[in-house]
Amino acid sequence: MSSLFESYDLAGLPLSNRIVMAPMTRARAHDTVPSADMATYYAQRASAGLIITESAQVSQQGRGYLHTPGIHTDAQIEGWKRVTDAVHRAGGRLFIQLWHVGRVSHVSLLDGHSPVSAVAVTAAQTLVHAYDSAGKPAQVAASLPVALDANGIRQVIADFRQAALNAMAAGFDGVEIHAGNGFLFEQFINGGLNTREDRYGGTLISNRLRLLLETVDEISAQIGHDRVGVRVSPFARLADLHPFEDEQATWLALAGALSQRRIAYLHASHLGDPDFHKAFRAAFDGSFVLSGGFGAETARQAIDEGLTDLAVFGRPFIANPDLVNRLRFGWPLAEAGREAFYGGGARGYVDYPVYSGEGVDPQWVPA
Ligand SMILES: Cc1cc2nc3c(=O)[nH]c(=O)nc-3n(C[C@H](O)[C@H](O)[C@H](O)COP(=O)(O)O)c2cc1C
Repeated sequence: MSSLFESYDLAGLPLSNRIVMAPMTRARAHDTVPSADMATYYAQRASAGLIITESAQVSQQGRGYLHTPGIHTDAQIEGWKRVTDAVHRAGGRLFIQLWHVGRVSHVSLLDGHSPVSAVAVTAAQTLVHAYDSAGKPAQVAASLPVALDANGIRQVIADFRQAALNAMAAGFDGVEIHAGNGFLFEQFINGGLNTREDRYGGTLISNRLRLLLETVDEISAQIGHDRVGVRVSPFARLADLHPFEDEQATWLALAGALSQRRIAYLHASHLGDPDFHKAFRAAFDGSFVLSGGFGAETARQAIDEGLTDLAVFGRPFIANPDLVNRLRFGWPLAEAGREAFYGGGARGYVDYPVYSGEGVDPQWVPA
């Protein structure tokens, strides 16, 4: 049997296979509280070795889109409990992705406050789903942020710490810190954007990594380093982030620093060229998790060639709740309609059936 379907020990957490469901924002939390449909959706996909949930904002300030869930109020924690209970009852494991969007936000989502970032520079050509001037939901340009001061930075770290504690209270198996896709941590890591002159920015790589590493340390001290994952997307160029000096060295230094901290895993996408991928993977001595464009064969190859330990599938999980069995038995995959990716209700969310091909018993598992 392919390595993809073998069990895996993730820092002491037993996973039934090496297939991970990618974090995917689906924007179904209409009042920022995880809904009953969300519990159904994740439980339907619990045969994944590990589910990483959609991003959940750690604070009101960290919010960047309408209808995304939070993990900072009692009601949100209660909502997530329904999700973790349902997934655990179905035999699955799940980490929650902790999120602060930084400057990728809009004043209409922040009670009129400005978004925050490393520096006061707007993310150009970046749209967020918020409210227009008439108060109607719309795609609007990201607002001008303010640069976080020392107190503001301390507060962000405290918000992540509290969110991680909330996640454990809600029954998660761990947390993944979202340090990719152009959001707050990447705004600090990117040397082109982060021209701060204090300990949290500028030309020194260690300064630009400081916010993320202090957050990792703070969360690890609370819930254990073996319950913390980190996601990065080094060359994704999202939300108006561009190439910068020492770019590869910056990411390699981060992999090394996270390796020393013995976190549960490092999750990466957009690693660019194969040589960099190998160097990045080699710099991190721990479980490596890779995202982006996998099918059964390419995922098996990536594991067998040592490019990753776990293979993350995103879009295929949307329309195939039984993706693991479909990959295992070579059953056809259903296609998801893009129109249902973000927002809406149960349609295009919890109504995708498991495969029921002629003469095939979906419960059947080879000896
Ligand atoms: C609808 C949708 C929402 C996503 N939301 C998130 C998210 O909340 N956090 C994140 O880190 N990545 C997010 N991603 C990226 C996925 O985690 C994944 O890296 C990407 O889909 C590539 O994998 P795939 O080719 O298997 O789909 C999202 C992708 C999609 C399609």
